[in-house]
Amino acid sequence: MSRRIAVILGGRSSENPISIASAQSVVRALESSGDEVLAIEVGRDGRWQLGTAGHPELPARLPGKEVATTLSDVDVVFPVLHGPFGEDGTVQGLLELAGVPYVGAGVLASALCMDKDVFKAVLRDHGIPVTENITLRLGDEPYSPFDFPVFVKPARLGSSVGITMAHDDDELRRGVELAFEHDEKVLVERFVAGVEVEVGVLGNLKPFASLPGEIVVTHNEWYDFEAKYDDGEMDLVVPARITEEQIERAQELAVRAFVATDCEGMARADMFVRDDGEVLVNELNTIPGFTSTSVYARLFEASDIPYPELLQRLADLAVERFERRRALRF
Ligand SMILES: Nc1ncnc2c1ncn2[C@@H]1O[C@H](COP(=O)(O)OP(=O)(O)OP(=O)(O)O)[C@@H](O)[C@H]1O
Ligand SMILES: [Mg+2]
Repeated sequence: MSRRIAVILGGRSSENPISIASAQSVVRALESSGDEVLAIEVGRDGRWQLGTAGHPELPARLPGKEVATTLSDVDVVFPVLHGPFGEDGTVQGLLELAGVPYVGAGVLASALCMDKDVFKAVLRDHGIPVTENITLRLGDEPYSPFDFPVFVKPARLGSSVGITMAHDDDELRRGVELAFEHDEKVLVERFVAGVEVEVGVLGNLKPFASLPGEIVVTHNEWYDFEAKYDDGEMDLVVPARITEEQIERAQELAVRAFVATDCEGMARADMFVRDDGEVLVNELNTIPGFTSTSVYARLFEASDIPYPELLQRLADLAVERFERRRALRF
């Protein structure tokens, strides 16, 4: 069934170029399935425009049309935005107000998964093992109760921006300073030695997990920004080279975390299989990198759901949720 789908891309966060790369893949695949696609670009300055200016592979600028009327005149909206002001519930709130079906997590789940501090508190409450951390607030002194190395992170960002692996007090101090440039809340985490795995989750009321993939970083010490986006810096091994039992445990925890945080549609669970065999959840990304060669797409490709079909399923799930919730009385 062909649909009119609006893809929102770009965005105010530093992940703007990553969103544009994701959106190019998404638009191409939706069009190849027969959908009519409109692009809505959000600039780094926060301005919304219908169509895109400088991206030849994306639908062009449409003069004389309004973003607001277009949003309510499509079958589905697909926000392909990463990080703050896109993946964090703000855009999802706008789409709720516009009364239009949209792909992915709703307002609460988006905001919750964006905040690594509150996210882990909710998972702990559900008995789901997570990476250990303390949280610093603006004005707090740099501090860590853990042995070095530790990870220092802004609470609400992605793509490893502002994250430091600190090996001593000096690096901890500088790491905390850097993280506070990006957020008012900073996490200091115990280092997890083990295998880094990622699991894709898909679905609404009955979500299911993809095969886990193993992140193998080839040149850097950890999965930093370069390892994520420079060619040849990361190998994804699917399925991850862990035991059958650990594969099942990772899938089970990914789905439980998805349900515990009220996610719908999709999410990518980033996890660790610790050297002692214990599986820990690190975070859920509600709008993961979405090119056809991004981890999320490759995990489902390996689980027999090719990229174009993945996108159709996500659009179906958006409509299903919308219809379901429309029947509620409030
Ligand atoms: N506690 C930890 N122990 C060991 N490695 C860690 C830890 N926390 C983070 N890392 C490393 O840092 C990377 C980035 O961390 P994390 O996934 O929390 O950040 P992010 O910026 O939100 O990532 P994403 O791009 O997935 O949104 C991880 O993929 C992992 O390689
Ligand atoms: Mg991550």
